[in-house]
Amino acid sequence: MNENIQKIREQFPFIVQHPQSIYFDNAATTQKPIEVLQSIQNYYKNINANIHRGVHKWSILATEAYEAARKTVAQFINAQDPTEIIFTSGTTHSVNLLADCLFNTYFQSGDEIVLSIAEHHSNILPWQNRANKFGVHLKYATLNHLYQVDVNHLKSLVTEKTKLIAITYVSNTLGTINEVKEIIQFAHQHNIPVLVDAAQSIAHLKTDVQQLNTDFLVFSGHKMYAPTGVGVLYAQKKYHSYLYPLSSGGGAIIDVDLHKTEFADVPLRLEAGTPNIEAVIGLADAIHFINKNGGIHQFYLLEEHLKNYLYQRLFELQDQLDIYTTLQSPSVSVISFNVKNQHPFDVGTLLNNYGIAVRTGHHCTQPLMKHLKIQGTVRVSLAAYNTIEEIDRFIQALHKTIKMLL
Ligand code: ALA
Repeated sequence: MNENIQKIREQFPFIVQHPQSIYFDNAATTQKPIEVLQSIQNYYKNINANIHRGVHKWSILATEAYEAARKTVAQFINAQDPTEIIFTSGTTHSVNLLADCLFNTYFQSGDEIVLSIAEHHSNILPWQNRANKFGVHLKYATLNHLYQVDVNHLKSLVTEKTKLIAITYVSNTLGTINEVKEIIQFAHQHNIPVLVDAAQSIAHLKTDVQQLNTDFLVFSGHKMYAPTGVGVLYAQKKYHSYLYPLSSGGGAIIDVDLHKTEFADVPLRLEAGTPNIEAVIGLADAIHFINKNGGIHQFYLLEEHLKNYLYQRLFELQDQLDIYTTLQSPSVSVISFNVKNQHPFDVGTLLNNYGIAVRTGHHCTQPLMKHLKIQGTVRVSLAAYNTIEEIDRFIQALHKTIKMLL
C-alpha cells in the first residue's frame, strides 16, 4: 500500500477498526481522524462552557478556542478577515441563512437568480421556497458534454435582472469540477455577486476565496474530516450590511428593547443561540490534521491516483454499465454509474453484502436525475485513506453483483 495513504489511514480509528469493510461513501460524510475525536473529548473534559456570555475562566477559554477556530478557518480558505467566517450547522443552513438575509435586504420582485441543474437540493430549495413567495425567478444552466455546468449556456441566461449566481464548485453526484472562476469573472463584469457551494470541493481542492474572488462560499465540516453539525458561510465584508436575517436570538445583539433591537456586527448577529462549540473547535482541529498531513493538495494528489485507477477499472466494464462522466471530465474522486437495466438500490444492497459502503439513489439532486432520465445512481466517493486494494475488491464484488443480477 502507498506509504502516504498508510500514514493517513492509521489516523482513522473507524478505518482501523473495520479492516474488512470498505468505506466508499466519503462524499456523504468522511470518517474522523483521532485528532478530531480527541479534540471533542478534550473540549468536554477541560473547557465546556458557553461562549461570549461569561467572565469566568471556562467561558473565556471556550470563547478563545471558538474564536481561534474562526481564524484557522479564515486562513484555510484565505479569507481576508476572520469576521468573514460565519459558523452555521452545515451547508444547508449556510445557504438558508444567506437566502434569509438576501430576501430580507437585497432581492426585489422580478429579480432573477441563476443556478444549474446539477445543484444539490441544498442550493435549490432555499432559493426556490423564497423566490416563489417574493416573485423572484430562478433560471437553470444545463450541462455540457463533459457533465460540467455549461458556462456558455449559463452566460446566456444572465440579464440585467440577474441579482445572484449560485453554483456548485463540484457536483456531489458526478464529481465533475465546474469552471467557477470563469463564471465569477463573467458575473463580476455584470456586477452580479456569486455564491460558490463548496460542500463537495472543500476536502479535495485547495480553496482560496481571494483568488477565486467569490462573494460568498459555503461548506460543511463533516465532509472534510470534522464533526457533523458545523458549517461555514463565507461572506465578503462588503456584503455584511446586507446580512440581516429574519431569524435571530440570543448572542446576536448589542441592546434589546421590547420593541426594537440593536444588532451585533457580522458574524455574531448571524450566530444567534448557543452554537455547536465543540464541532467548531473540531473543525479547526480537522484543518490542523489536514495541514499536518501535507495540506489539501497532498490529499488531492493521493485521491487523484486512486480516482484514475477506479475510473480505468470502471470504464473497462462500460458495456455493462452506464457511467455518468467521461474520462476527459475534470473531476474529484467521485463517480456515479448504474449497472445497465438494474436499480441502484439492488446494486448497493449486494455491494453492502460484500462489506462495501456506497451511496445509492438520487443523492439529493433530483433535477439532475430528471435531466439524465434516471431515478438514481450508484455513487463511489473516495478519500485519501482508501486504497488500490480496496478498489480491486470493489471491482471483484461488482463483477459478482452484475453476474447475480443478470
Ligand atoms: N450531500 C451529501 C451527499 O452528496 C449528503 O451524499
